[in-house]
Amino acid sequence: MTVTAVDLFCGCGGLSAGLIEAGFVVEEAYDCWPRALDTYERNIAPHVVPLDLMDVASAAGRIASIDPTLLAGAPPCQDFSTAGKRVEAEQANLTTAFGQIVSRCKPPAFLMENVPQVRLSATYQQMRRTVADAGYSLVEAVLDASWFGVPQRRQRFFAFGYRGNGEGGQRFEQSLDRAKSSHRLTVKQYMGDEIDVEYYYRHPRNYSRRSVFSVHEPSPTVRGVNRPVPPNYAGNRLDSAPPSQVRPLTTRERGRVQTFPGEWMWDGGDRNADTELLIGNAVPVQLAARVGTAVRDALDR
Ligand SMILES: C[S@@+](CC[C@H](N)C(=O)[O-])C[C@H]1O[C@@H](n2cnc3c(N)ncnc32)[C@H](O)[C@@H]1O
Repeated sequence: MTVTAVDLFCGCGGLSAGLIEAGFVVEEAYDCWPRALDTYERNIAPHVVPLDLMDVASAAGRIASIDPTLLAGAPPCQDFSTAGKRVEAEQANLTTAFGQIVSRCKPPAFLMENVPQVRLSATYQQMRRTVADAGYSLVEAVLDASWFGVPQRRQRFFAFGYRGNGEGGQRFEQSLDRAKSSHRLTVKQYMGDEIDVEYYYRHPRNYSRRSVFSVHEPSPTVRGVNRPVPPNYAGNRLDSAPPSQVRPLTTRERGRVQTFPGEWMWDGGDRNADTELLIGNAVPVQLAARVGTAVRDALDR
């Protein structure tokens, strides 16, 4: 049976790629950033459309005519994340827009991804009320990707909304329990011979933090920037190796740690700032595939 989805804020396509792996047919995907649209189109399909999702009425009209089973989306998280200033402003309004589009289109189910901090925001609390008023039940989960087929300790929040009684929610949670691995995945276990170093540098948010990691552990969160080792960096006592002996991951390696397929086409060469941001923004493909399977199990199709 065909199960359809529409992907809002699709970026370079991490969430879409995972949903497709889980068996969804993604009918359309929207973003307003040309680099994201180009990368999505080159790797997934031409069903990606430039759209400003602040314009809720236009987006809802277009989506209603598609009538997808699932409305999926990862609205921008900068206003909520620890990396940002945590001022709920324009970007946060896009989470509000997501809820409004759901409540206007009323698909059988929706799935939203964001940073865990979103739960504390007034914006998200308002969005919850909007979708509850539209008749949705909600299951919320914070998942660490390293337990779900991704070699990365990336914690992300998912809100699964569905219409009907509690059984769908139970099936969603049971499916996620089944998908959870018995161990965290390491970079080496996932990449094997694709990675030829034992240790690598990941630029820290501040220098009180560790910045050198072993491939024999899950990577820290892949962020939207990829910086070289600063020439005067003295290291941190928690580093796995001396910084003088390591390099940052390449753009392609970071894409792999986000579980994009090896043949994924990233434009712009190594350490292109836009490509690094696309990769850091993405929902890891394998995490999206497992959550997508849980959505299908919840919908029983
Ligand atoms: C967290 S990223 C999405 C990542 C994507 N789901 C993935 O898995 O690769 C958020 C996206 O929202 C897009 N965006 C920001 N403002 C937007 C707007 N007003 N309308 C449409 N897209 C917007 C950004 O360009 C960015 O690609």
